[in-house]
Amino acid sequence: MKVNGKEYRTVWMKDGTVFYIEQNRLPFEFVINKAATWQECCITIRSMQIRGAGAIGAMAGFAMALASISASRDAVRGISGDHSQDTYSTLLRAARAEIEATRPTARNLFYATELVFNSALQSSQDAVIEAQRVADRDADDSRRIGEFGNSLIRNGARILTHCNAGWLAFVDFGTALSPVYKAHQSGKKVFVYVDETRPRSQGARLTAWELFQEGVPHVIIPDNAGASLMAQGKVDMVITGADRIAANGDTANKIGTLEKAVVAHEFGIPFYIAAPTSTFDLACASGKDIVIEERDEEEVLFQEGPDADGVMHRIRVCSPGSHALNPAFDVTPAKYITGFITERGIIPATPKSPEGDLPPSP
Ligand code: MRU
Repeated sequence: MKVNGKEYRTVWMKDGTVFYIEQNRLPFEFVINKAATWQECCITIRSMQIRGAGAIGAMAGFAMALASISASRDAVRGISGDHSQDTYSTLLRAARAEIEATRPTARNLFYATELVFNSALQSSQDAVIEAQRVADRDADDSRRIGEFGNSLIRNGARILTHCNAGWLAFVDFGTALSPVYKAHQSGKKVFVYVDETRPRSQGARLTAWELFQEGVPHVIIPDNAGASLMAQGKVDMVITGADRIAANGDTANKIGTLEKAVVAHEFGIPFYIAAPTSTFDLACASGKDIVIEERDEEEVLFQEGPDADGVMHRIRVCSPGSHALNPAFDVTPAKYITGFITERGIIPATPKSPEGDLPPSP
């Protein structure tokens, strides 16, 4: 997508260095950072400098590729002869475990590490090629999601979205926002209600910034306003992203999604999840098996933003002495989901047999 007229991906690798848009600085500053080692890549994921299921997946794939390059150097340098292959795979396995421990919920992270790890067992060149393929596939899937999703959006539609499942959350295009961009580019009138998405405000900060860049009319709403807008008939459809989708269609997404889905169901408003098939976890029988990340209470207790001179400040916004609970995701049961917008088409949310119901790859 374009920022200030220049085409960007959210994360990319060139000559053994990973470049990424630093999301913690947005929307106040647009900064490209670098990660030169797989350990630095892990820090970017843990600290949410890079976030969103697909972007995390691409970063994890690149981290695995960098780990394979450094493991092959260490194996040659450290132990000679027959043992170097053992050293290589031991280092590789240790790196994979650490990369996978950065964040537990988004399926795409594990999808990427598995693919790149398997290629790395052949060679580090294969690992680099596979990591690029994972990132390219993420961008391509998101573009296709936009095309399929656009068919659901009528001219004049008012769409509510939660969190950020735009291009910043993926390598390019995004998922929930990809159909919105496609509809807007094709000349349809669309209007987006953007949930602020406390505590980290991915909606107010990132989704709003993206929509502004693309010239899509939108307004930021408090997290607790959606139900009232739906009750007043002001929302035509809800589209969100997903972090992991279980075999029965139950879907983990940013905390607060469940409430929107239940309310949309009550008022007969279509509720769609836009996600690539790399987010589906068929080994996970239902939402009960999805691990929900719990993050630091400081994300709830403190907020940050710039003063009039652009200097960033972090201030406490909650009663001193109180603690906070900070689950990062919730699980929406499939019965509340109208359908999944995937790169292979739109599929029902409660497939009888998940494998059988996924349309074939394009
Ligand atoms: O904690 P985050 O910001 O990495 O959360 C992930 C998300 O962006 C959302 O849950 C999103 O709606 C799903 S897909 C990117």
